[in-house]
Amino acid sequence: MKYIIEQFGKVYKWHLIEYVHISKIVGKGNLIFTNTSSRQLEPLGKIDKKSIAQLGFSDVCILDPASNKTLSPEDCKRFKYLVFGGILGDYPPRERTKELLTGKMPEAETRNLGKEQMPTDNAVYAAKLIAEGKPFEEIEFIDNIEINIQKGLSVQLPFRYVKVNGKPLVSEKLVEFLKKRRTI
Ligand SMILES: C[S@@+](CC[C@H](N)C(=O)[O-])C[C@H]1O[C@@H](n2cnc3c(N)ncnc32)[C@H](O)[C@@H]1O
Repeated sequence: MKYIIEQFGKVYKWHLIEYVHISKIVGKGNLIFTNTSSRQLEPLGKIDKKSIAQLGFSDVCILDPASNKTLSPEDCKRFKYLVFGGILGDYPPRERTKELLTGKMPEAETRNLGKEQMPTDNAVYAAKLIAEGKPFEEIEFIDNIEINIQKGLSVQLPFRYVKVNGKPLVSEKLVEFLKKRRTI
């Protein structure tokens, strides 16, 4: 399975942290960034400045929370490419995947990973578990997490995370970034 991230606009630090994580999760050889020529992504996967909508790939599935079907292991035997929006989470969610990605490929198949919004790295992780044969219903999640950034100060992240070893899947780099950041 190849995992495609269709980038929209500038690659912010938060994107980059998630993409480093995704490259570790799926492996550089299985990751493609489309709609971008950002050189900072070169160490993480293949880059194509064309949009996925212009590449003419077949057996593509867009992962979109607004889809009315949930991704299954059976689906993954048919699809060669799982496509994710390089879109940062927004709260409340505004169906931006539907607008920006599914909207420009109206013929493509779409699937959800449940209705709750996950960060892109967690969506990729959940999809990879499914592609490896785990049904969606068997994946455990944790919603709305809180990260302590210094004594008495925490950040709320109002998204859904995959539960791994009893904890939400959050990269160390993201935690460091949240501790230091002033802006995204
Ligand atoms: C942070 S999400 C952006 C969601 C965006 N706010 C929206 O409402 O569509 C980034 C990407 O992860 C994937 N994703 C996140 N949660 C998902 C879900 N529940 N089902 C399917 N895909 C999901 C989608 O590909 C999405 O474009």
